[in-house]
Amino acid sequence: MINLLRSLWKSDQPRKTVSLQHDNIPEHVAIIMDGNGRWANRRGLPRIIGHQNGMKAVKRATIAADEIGVKYLTMYAFSTENWKRPKDEVDFLMRLPQEFLAIELDELVEKNVQVRMMGHTDQLPSYTIAAMEEAAERTKDNTGLVLNFALNYGSRREIADSVKSLCNEIQAGQLSLDDITEDHITSHLLSAGIPDPDLLIRTGGELRLSNFMLWQLAYSELVFSDIYWPEFGREHLLEAVAEFQQRTRRYGGLT
Ligand code: IPE
Ligand code: IPE
Ligand code: MG
Repeated sequence: MINLLRSLWKSDQPRKTVSLQHDNIPEHVAIIMDGNGRWANRRGLPRIIGHQNGMKAVKRATIAADEIGVKYLTMYAFSTENWKRPKDEVDFLMRLPQEFLAIELDELVEKNVQVRMMGHTDQLPSYTIAAMEEAAERTKDNTGLVLNFALNYGSRREIADSVKSLCNEIQAGQLSLDDITEDHITSHLLSAGIPDPDLLIRTGGELRLSNFMLWQLAYSELVFSDIYWPEFGREHLLEAVAEFQQRTRRYGGLT
């Protein structure tokens, strides 16, 4: 067992201890970072200030995940459905990766973090793609935590695209219909090469997946929290992992 202090990032809170089993750390944690707008509204601030503060929570979650030995951290930053929002908000969100990486990339490089992007690049502005590509390039040889941003990501489109590329392979005579397995679908997803999430965390109080990793979450443990994403800190991640460690994963079998 390792003992980890929580509440270090908020000095006004009493320090409590979360005990984690070091041999049962989820390899892949995925987070639906929700509640930025409501966090801002509650303070009488514009929604974009919520997104701005959400960036700081991304940093806290990354540091905490790295510290406890998580190997992959996937952050849902923008969905294929988020284009329905007002243009000003969308424009702000599209600038955030650039802003986040301008501030944090040097430290991520230093911390041996590998930055990746998982999403449909076709609709994204060139400056958003350029920022993500630069981060991916500068960190490609890093061997520590993989920080995977889901940006313009939609699971149904991802699955449809996977099926389409398999159909192309069949048409080209490279694959036979009868040979298609679940692994073929998996290996054509945007998440190819990354194991399925062991733990999914959603902040913001909603109990739904909002088109996030529908295929990959088949047997993930789900932890929902009412706190708004900008409030998310180290102790919330540790609590979610502690909750994960209480669960018995059966995958349909018996224990
Ligand atoms: C999550 O916070 C961030 C994105 C979806 C981009 P929201 O912006 O959805 O915040 P709420 O849910 O409206 O509070
Ligand atoms: C999910 O949050 C998408 C991201 C966190 C990027 P939404 O706020 O878009 O989800 P809904 O609309 O409440 O389902
Ligand atoms: Mg929301």
